[in-house]
Amino acid sequence: MIHDLVIAGASQVVSSSKEPPLRKESLSRLEVFEDVNLGIKDGKIASISKSRLASKHYTSGSGSVVLPGLVDCHTHIPFYGTRYEEFLMRTQGKSYMDIMQAGGGILSTVEAVRGAAAEDLVSFNLRFLEEMLARGVTTVEGKSGYGLDKETELKQLRVLKVLGEIHNISVISTFLGAHAIPKEFDSPRSYLEYVVGFLDEVRHYTDVVDIFCEDKVFGLDDTEYFLKEATARGFKLRLHADELVSLGGSKLAAQLGAISADHLVAAGNESINALAESDTVAVLMPGTSFFLKEGYARGRALVDNGAVIALASDFNPGSCNIYDPFFVMHLAITRCGLTVEEAINSYTANSAYVLGLAQSKGRIKEGFDADLTLLDLKDYREIPYRFSHDIVRAVIKDGEVAFGA
Ligand code: NIG
Ligand code: FE
Repeated sequence: MIHDLVIAGASQVVSSSKEPPLRKESLSRLEVFEDVNLGIKDGKIASISKSRLASKHYTSGSGSVVLPGLVDCHTHIPFYGTRYEEFLMRTQGKSYMDIMQAGGGILSTVEAVRGAAAEDLVSFNLRFLEEMLARGVTTVEGKSGYGLDKETELKQLRVLKVLGEIHNISVISTFLGAHAIPKEFDSPRSYLEYVVGFLDEVRHYTDVVDIFCEDKVFGLDDTEYFLKEATARGFKLRLHADELVSLGGSKLAAQLGAISADHLVAAGNESINALAESDTVAVLMPGTSFFLKEGYARGRALVDNGAVIALASDFNPGSCNIYDPFFVMHLAITRCGLTVEEAINSYTANSAYVLGLAQSKGRIKEGFDADLTLLDLKDYREIPYRFSHDIVRAVIKDGEVAFGA
């Protein structure tokens, strides 16, 4: 076979050999091929071999660690504008919830997104995709949730579709109409009834819904009402759960067979056990804890009890303006107690699983999409130590060099 591109002599090619969802031992193991050639054909991984591979083009992998392209399975793009003043207020003692209840927070981004033309949203967020790609991310999930009215929520979903069409990063969308209660409604339930009323239109863009299940936002009863209505219309479920207080959102997620329960900073033993006994993925986003100066999710306890874990950035203008996957991995390892192997699998195979892409992304395997991140490292175990250095040498997307070389 004549390949289109060969990465020649890669120091390490690192990937899970097991199909996700990975938990326990399979989560802690990586298969490492040393000094190998990686052949790509028609945008797919075609060969991993010690022998020389014929190809139209070659790039040197010498001195490089090759990882599956990173999959960020939880961000809040597309948004508009910045909230740095709010960040500074928090450094002076105001809490995230204080600011939100005073009409700032999510609602201030809602105002900005409602006022922005779709083209402006596209160009504002395109820059983030470019920066994420340069940091090794090849697939990004984004959500609506800064519209809180039918027109703007659908506008955000359309913008995500356009972003995926014009940028080589793969973009997956989620509907988060249930992100906050807009000023136009006086109760969570009346707003959720309105949202349920346009779910059929949302279905043209995505089959996944998310909800911010949190004290003073959507409580357990309202969350259950919304998720059951969404299930009845064929949607899969994700939840922002137990982020600020331990309300029981993760238990509900497990009960309803949700794809994921995300955040979990306040999740206690009962929630950890419920997740561990289910297939619902615990999505940890320690960048948010760092940005808000709050506690960290109990990653070690989740892993030890057998939960499926994924890592993501939660990139958004309020609670976490961080998208660097290697910084997030560093925090997952140093603050949540994950091993480097668990962190890599959680940002690749398991996060691809969260997005329904377990059969094509997140692993280096023949027939999988050739989405690869080449790091200027000799050993993958250097990642949490060298996270703040310029370690991304190149990014291959669908078989083509999309960044570096
Ligand atoms: O995941 N928790 C709710 N939503 C986001 C924050 C969004 C914002 O502050 O704009 C989060 O942290
Ligand atoms: Fe979030």
